[in-house]
Amino acid sequence: MSSLDPSSTESPLLLIPGPTPVPREVLAALARPTVAHNSAAAASDLKALQLGVLRSLGHRPEPGEEQPAVLVTAGSGTSAMESALVNTVAPGASVVVVSHGFFGDRFAAIARAHGAEVELVSCDWGEQVPVETVERALEQTGAKVLTATHVDTANGVASPFSEYARAARAHDALLILDAVASAGGMPLEMEAEGIDVVITASQKALAMPPGLAIVVASRRALELRRQMEGQVSYFLDWLNWLPPMTDPTAHYFATLPTNLIAAGAVAIEIAEGEGWSERFARHRQMARATRRGLRAIGLNTVSGDELLGTTVSALAVPSGITPAALRVEVAKEGIAIAGGLAAWSQTSIRIGHMGATSLPELLAGVAALEQALLRLGAPVERGAGVAELLCGWEAEAVA
Ligand SMILES: Cc1ncc(COP(=O)(O)O)c(C=O)c1O
Repeated sequence: MSSLDPSSTESPLLLIPGPTPVPREVLAALARPTVAHNSAAAASDLKALQLGVLRSLGHRPEPGEEQPAVLVTAGSGTSAMESALVNTVAPGASVVVVSHGFFGDRFAAIARAHGAEVELVSCDWGEQVPVETVERALEQTGAKVLTATHVDTANGVASPFSEYARAARAHDALLILDAVASAGGMPLEMEAEGIDVVITASQKALAMPPGLAIVVASRRALELRRQMEGQVSYFLDWLNWLPPMTDPTAHYFATLPTNLIAAGAVAIEIAEGEGWSERFARHRQMARATRRGLRAIGLNTVSGDELLGTTVSALAVPSGITPAALRVEVAKEGIAIAGGLAAWSQTSIRIGHMGATSLPELLAGVAALEQALLRLGAPVERGAGVAELLCGWEAEAVA
């Protein structure tokens, strides 16, 4: 067993950017006796989860208006990305992929695997892709679908997705937004901002266990799917999933992960007990306070706060210290943090501060990093990180 293996501690504190800590009540729901996928209990849990996800995306039901479809299936964020793509982009059709990091590039890889013509518009990590570049790509390709990532977990930067949504509308294109690292932790008004498909997964700011792929598709997106000929996939085809997602007691397509859905419904209940806007404000507070604490011990984000989301921080490690060594030292304190990805793998670590993560857990994380840096010989003032985090927490207090 490697010393980076979180299982080397019985209950490691997960400060990685997903999966995130899952509240006990949610775990207890997982352990309830399994119900049938077509039972009234499963239908009621599914409905509760679907409506909660919609409300987290700013949905307010209007009488007589068709609400977006919420497809909740077994899978991960990647399967939700693939689902969104194959149901809207036919092989050979053009798609503009906006990428500001590792997961933006993944959309391009999925689209290529599916035989689409990919126009990739990207930027250096730590920056945002300007909307003008996106507009040019839409004009040049005539693509009817645009994909973007809200928060790219590799660098923590948030995209100006509202601007992309306006550009997509102006070019009569559909926007698919990857909100795997933001949904449930950051405000995202799907309908008001004109986003056609939002995809996410259970294991990050929604504070559910891993295993649920969530796709929210607008009426416009569903129409586009219906206009496509033939079957676009078997397991991922929205037309296969829409009937059981409307009423699983009457329609079967494939067995639903009923324990996960029951747990998801409890996670929604907890989130709504807090309130979505209060939850988003708490994420802002966690991000700002944690970054302030980390800065005090020499761990800085590459981008400024104005470009960053509030769920994850990618931090440059001080020179002379490797991300792997830092992670090993932090793991000794029973805390799991993540390494950098791809081009940043040798220079950065990543910390998740989202979902059900609490102030004491963030304090423990910063204290462990401080200890680790001291053991590795970094010139850190003892207690500085924890003190700054607490000051930041107070300064950013949610009114
Ligand atoms: C922004 C983003 N998109 C997509 C994914 C892929 O999700 P999964 O690992 O659940 O397949 C991740 C995973 O971290 C992510 O952070």
